[in-house]
Amino acid sequence: MKNILLLGSGGRECALAWKLSQSPLCGNFFIAPGNSGTSEYGRNLPFSYNDFESIKKACIEFNIDIVIPGPEEPLVAGIYDFIKNDPYLSHIVVVGPSKDGAQLEGSKAYSKKFMARHNIPTAAYKEFTVDSFEQGVAYIKRSEMPIVIKADGLAAGKGVVIADNTIDAVKAFRAMVMNKQFGDASKTVVIEQFLEGIELSVFVLTDGTNYVLLPEAKDYKRISEGDTGLNTGGMGAISPVPFADEEFMQKVTDRIIKPTIEGLKKENTVYQGFIFFGLIKVKGEPYVIEYNCRMGDPETEVVIPRLENDLVELCIKMSQGKLNEVVTEHSTRAAGAVMLVAAGYPGDYQKGNVMTGFGEVKGSLLFHAGAIKKGDAVVTNGGRILAVTSYGADIKQALAKSYENAEKIKYEGKYYRKDIGWEF
Ligand code: AMP
Ligand code: GLY
Repeated sequence: MKNILLLGSGGRECALAWKLSQSPLCGNFFIAPGNSGTSEYGRNLPFSYNDFESIKKACIEFNIDIVIPGPEEPLVAGIYDFIKNDPYLSHIVVVGPSKDGAQLEGSKAYSKKFMARHNIPTAAYKEFTVDSFEQGVAYIKRSEMPIVIKADGLAAGKGVVIADNTIDAVKAFRAMVMNKQFGDASKTVVIEQFLEGIELSVFVLTDGTNYVLLPEAKDYKRISEGDTGLNTGGMGAISPVPFADEEFMQKVTDRIIKPTIEGLKKENTVYQGFIFFGLIKVKGEPYVIEYNCRMGDPETEVVIPRLENDLVELCIKMSQGKLNEVVTEHSTRAAGAVMLVAAGYPGDYQKGNVMTGFGEVKGSLLFHAGAIKKGDAVVTNGGRILAVTSYGADIKQALAKSYENAEKIKYEGKYYRKDIGWEF
């Protein structure tokens, strides 16, 4: 039995908590800070996932064996190294990369150079700073439109601009690099070719040498129907992805997954954990849009329900470097998740609205996100509030069930997209 500390408070962590707590290998289980959903599966601890000192105290007090960071922030800030370099904690398994490995997500310039070194297909690009601003403008002017301007560092999902013309491109570039729109995160800017295609998310768990493939997923990032409006963290997800057929996935394996893991190993970058490949299929060929050093949200809310293996066992095998001994099994059922959000999200929104209707939901999994307990009530506490996930023989059936149950949850300002999975 392993005592586990899961870090995070979103729908992703609720889905992971649901799964981890089902394992016979799961001992005492804690989530920091968690939400109203995770407290059904373990004990919430009242501190931030970025508070390393509190994480250390909890690891010692509760004799933690495995730490699983959900979000990227603690990974990019070096939670792995913090734990491994502390004599009281170094025995603990961390399911996530070292600070160096987390640069795959923490720095777009790093990840682009990594892909170039290992011949991994991605959009052509150049990187610029304040010192090369004029060269950047010249590069934009001689490039084809649209073009993509990206802040190098973490910018809470807001650091990417797709510009249709040179004027907008230069404006975005100037805001980032000269006016430090995202602070240090936009000191360096990556300018890259726009790829036209259809996106999907592929996930593996790696022990640094071997890896297991998790179910793939597609998320719906825009706030409004028909994939319009502002970008969000994700408004819904489906798995499997119909266009990720065997031939395409073989290309992903050969050209992207294997070279990535081999590349990290060759460069002695310590990486045991999840890798999220944000991919785009262009004329049948896969390209990397981005790497993330963690699972996706809301993808996890469909990926994890379709994973039939014991997740704690996978984490243990990962820590032993023995993922070659396991084969993952993916459910033949499809899963579809619809995210209920707050009115105004991804802009400003209210918090503290009482939620009801949970008891009427039948045949769906509810993964709480921005929701907390207040006394006996569950109240909204974020922009993305609740993922309603269902299984079905196919995506349509799964989503029909999620929509049926999404209606039953009530709170002031409820909004959700009615067209998740619309194209399938
Ligand atoms: P990122 O933060 O790098 O995932 O970018 C956010 C979103 O911008 C992606 O999910 C894509 O929809 C879009 N995007 C980023 N890079 C490109 C690109 N080179 N071509 C087309 N779309 C892109
Ligand atoms: N759903 C996209 C992400 O987790 O980054």
